[in-house]
Amino acid sequence: MKLPRPRGPITEALVEHLARPVHTVEPMPPAPHAAPADALEDEDLQAALFICYELHYDGFDGVDPDWEWEPSLLALRAGLERVHAAALADAVPPPPDTAPADVPRALARMTADDSGPPLAAHLQRRATLEQFREFAAHRSVYHLKEADPHTWAIPRVRGRTKAALVEIQADEYGGGRAEFMHCELFRHTLRGLGLDDSYGAYVDAAPAITLAASTTMSLFGLHRSRRGALLGQLAAFEMTSSLPNRAYSLGLRRLGGDTATRRFYDEHVQADAVHEQIAAHDLCGSFAEEHPGEAAAVLFGAAAGLELDRRFAAHLLTAWESGESSLRAPDAGRVPA
Ligand SMILES: [Fe+2]
Repeated sequence: MKLPRPRGPITEALVEHLARPVHTVEPMPPAPHAAPADALEDEDLQAALFICYELHYDGFDGVDPDWEWEPSLLALRAGLERVHAAALADAVPPPPDTAPADVPRALARMTADDSGPPLAAHLQRRATLEQFREFAAHRSVYHLKEADPHTWAIPRVRGRTKAALVEIQADEYGGGRAEFMHCELFRHTLRGLGLDDSYGAYVDAAPAITLAASTTMSLFGLHRSRRGALLGQLAAFEMTSSLPNRAYSLGLRRLGGDTATRRFYDEHVQADAVHEQIAAHDLCGSFAEEHPGEAAAVLFGAAAGLELDRRFAAHLLTAWESGESSLRAPDAGRVPA
């Protein structure tokens, strides 16, 4: 992936540093203008965090891989993380006291609430092809590295929790068949929609709220102290995935999408119906019983994931209702026609 374009003073400095050989980065006050309440939608802060985290995944063309562990850059990232984490805590009220044994039931209650903006219904019944293409461009930021943030948790959990996580991840990674990896299935979706299927192609076009879904998973994944939140976020994702994916597939069929273009969504209708039970009981239930002190973290992670989903859906629907693109414009570029 190419280094993303700067979106403000933090990313301007960051991109300039990363293009050079590894060196000490001067401390930067993180987004002084970003109050915790709007940090999840702050373009400069989310892009900066995304860039810092990407060094732990595939990195960037021409950027020295050793930047990954440069202490002064990690210190800068920690400052950004504090602002982001405070915004998450602000956006999601602390979950009610829940006994570890009740965690699966609490997750089911949280994910049954479908009062969020009706993005899936819109994509199924009314969206234009251009809107569906925008949706896929947003989602490509995550789907092209689908499951990677949750892999960080595998060495951080034990027993039934680890076995459940590996079972879910094995499906995500195609059960040993590269062509069935979910990220590969999504590349077919992008190509079928006439979009660029290269990793990170739409990062510049993705607004802060799209990046925030990824930065939150990376925050939870890269900090062992947040492993409970990561498992909760994964469970909420799996437990709210089956029906929307069915809607996406139907919407794509309505718009003329062929089988290969729809396969990513069809696969998730089936896989996530199975994952839902594994995630609630074997993953989160086992973890909470083994670590009762982290039960609240599991529910917090689930709530954070659901809140970011709601905001993402609201962003797209609001833009479309106003007849606008939901992607960043104009310098980041619209989805090519
Ligand atoms: Fe998947």
